[in-house]
Amino acid sequence: MKLFSTLKFRLLSSYVLVVLFSLAVTGFFLDRSLERRALEDLRSSMAAQARLIAAQLDPALLLKEDAARTDALVKKISRSAASRVTVIAASGKVLGDSGLPFAEVLKMGNHLDRREVKAAASSESGSVTRLSVTLREELLYLAVPVRQGGATAGFVRLAMPYRGVAAMLSEVRRGVAFSFALSALFALAVGWFVVLLFSRQFGEIVAGSKRFAAGEFDYRIPPSSSGELGKLSDTLNYMAWEIGARVRDAGLRRLELEAAFRDMSEALLVTDGAGVITMINPRARQLMGVKGFDPVGMRLSGMPAGPELSSAAIKALSSGRPVSFEFEPASAAGTTLGVSAAPILENALVRGCVLVARDITGPRKLEKLRKEFVANVSHELKTPLTAIKGNAETLLGGALDDKEHGPGFVKSIYDQSVRLENLVADLLKISYAESGKDRLEKGDVELFSLAQEAVKATAAAAGAKNVTVRNLVPAGLAAAADKDKLSQVLINLLDNAAKYNREGGEIKISAAQEPGAVKIVVEDNGPGIPAAHLPHIFERFYRVDKARSRELGGTGLGLSIVKHLVELHGGSVGVDSAEGRGSAFWFTLPAA
Ligand SMILES: Nc1ncnc2c1ncn2[C@@H]1O[C@H](COP(=O)(O)OP(=O)(O)OP(=O)(O)O)[C@@H](O)[C@H]1O
Ligand SMILES: [Mg+2]
Repeated sequence: MKLFSTLKFRLLSSYVLVVLFSLAVTGFFLDRSLERRALEDLRSSMAAQARLIAAQLDPALLLKEDAARTDALVKKISRSAASRVTVIAASGKVLGDSGLPFAEVLKMGNHLDRREVKAAASSESGSVTRLSVTLREELLYLAVPVRQGGATAGFVRLAMPYRGVAAMLSEVRRGVAFSFALSALFALAVGWFVVLLFSRQFGEIVAGSKRFAAGEFDYRIPPSSSGELGKLSDTLNYMAWEIGARVRDAGLRRLELEAAFRDMSEALLVTDGAGVITMINPRARQLMGVKGFDPVGMRLSGMPAGPELSSAAIKALSSGRPVSFEFEPASAAGTTLGVSAAPILENALVRGCVLVARDITGPRKLEKLRKEFVANVSHELKTPLTAIKGNAETLLGGALDDKEHGPGFVKSIYDQSVRLENLVADLLKISYAESGKDRLEKGDVELFSLAQEAVKATAAAAGAKNVTVRNLVPAGLAAAADKDKLSQVLINLLDNAAKYNREGGEIKISAAQEPGAVKIVVEDNGPGIPAAHLPHIFERFYRVDKARSRELGGTGLGLSIVKHLVELHGGSVGVDSAEGRGSAFWFTLPAA
């Protein structure tokens, strides 16, 4: 079945059929014309022979119907003739026959009804032939009239076996058949060769196309083919080259995309139209808490941080519009994710969804801090302003004339103004620090004398509490620092140590050279700081006892300024404290 459907078989069979058909048609017409020609030749030679015999006959004998003499003459004349000769009188009586004994001749019937004789009688010089069966074989008859002065004296009839023509014909036919068979064989061989060549080229093209289909774009169909097949293989080769180049290009693009996908800081996740994950990058795995399994092919809703993302994806998929929101994944508490889900559209049909999640914990925290800062500043400004306004109102309401209480209100207005001034000064310092414009003017700072100056500057605060300050800084110890800023740090710490100390307490300032840094400590034996507050003590506006601190004129900005200035020097700051056992604030300055 397979053989009959092959191109090879079809080509070869049609080729052979055409050759055989044309040979058969040629053979048929050749045979027909050969046979006709052979018969005509035979007839004309027989006619010539018959006329020759007729010429030798004496018409008088025929007219006399002298059978004995005519028969003898016929037998004599036609001894060398290949055909049987019959002489017939005008009446139809047979007068002689070369093929039969005289006795038999006499017994022969009237021959005037024979068709060849009839035809010879009616035509002047023509001859009529007929094919009949007498002597149990096919014979060819031909009769010519014997004329005597315009009248018919009789007829000479020749009969010749058809066998000779048939034998000649069959011999010719055999020859023709043999040559036909030879040419058919030759045609078959040539056809076979052509088909083989053709099918080999075709086979190469088919095999090549199969390899292209299997993705072997580097394969080339051998260039042996010529003509249309050659063009076809050239075209296919070019197509394979083109596709190969495009596939390689697409592969490169995919690698680039994959690299970007893998290394990007955003979490990226792609789902299909049914919410099944088709792609997920490492950052997304990390943010979603995917560990130890491959989520590709799984539903987004089944992931550890899935439900929220899934509902966003569903919204994007169903509305065909991008959705964005923020949320804290259960798998990573304290982290805020900003998520945007965008549908993948193909001809207005939603094919999937791309989810991009960014960790916005930092920016959100900063925003929160800023809001708190504004709220704190407003609050801090409001308190002294309210007090100033209240005191001023009281004075305007008549207290101005009250010699006893009036000055108290004025004093309060003054105190609150100082506090406002301090607050604004601190805020300016902070905003300057935050602007990043703060620059250090470093120099060698002798620490003992610097501490001495700071002690002097805070003497009032210490005096108010009867606090003793001891400067234990070793003489000659120096640090590379901005003298002004370092002085601010020390004053802040000494001010706190005095302000928050107990009545009659003690402050020690010490400094020591450590490997790579100088460490300075301001220690007091005041009430100390409860452990719960320690982590926040350096935050802006943070105060342990808000009421008391405010009463002492504090804003809660001192330590945050200290921290900023120390860090600006490249050092670090900290506190060791326990409730009831005093506090030791320390900071380091890296050695120059
Ligand atoms: N030596 C200390 N002993 C006990 N508590 C302290 C000491 N130093 C600071 N604190 C606590 O830390 C808080 C923050 O101090 P910080 O210097 O930042 O602010 P402040 O002193 O209240 O105001 P400011 O310094 O701006 O005038 C204080 O309100 C106080 O409660
Ligand atoms: Mg302070």
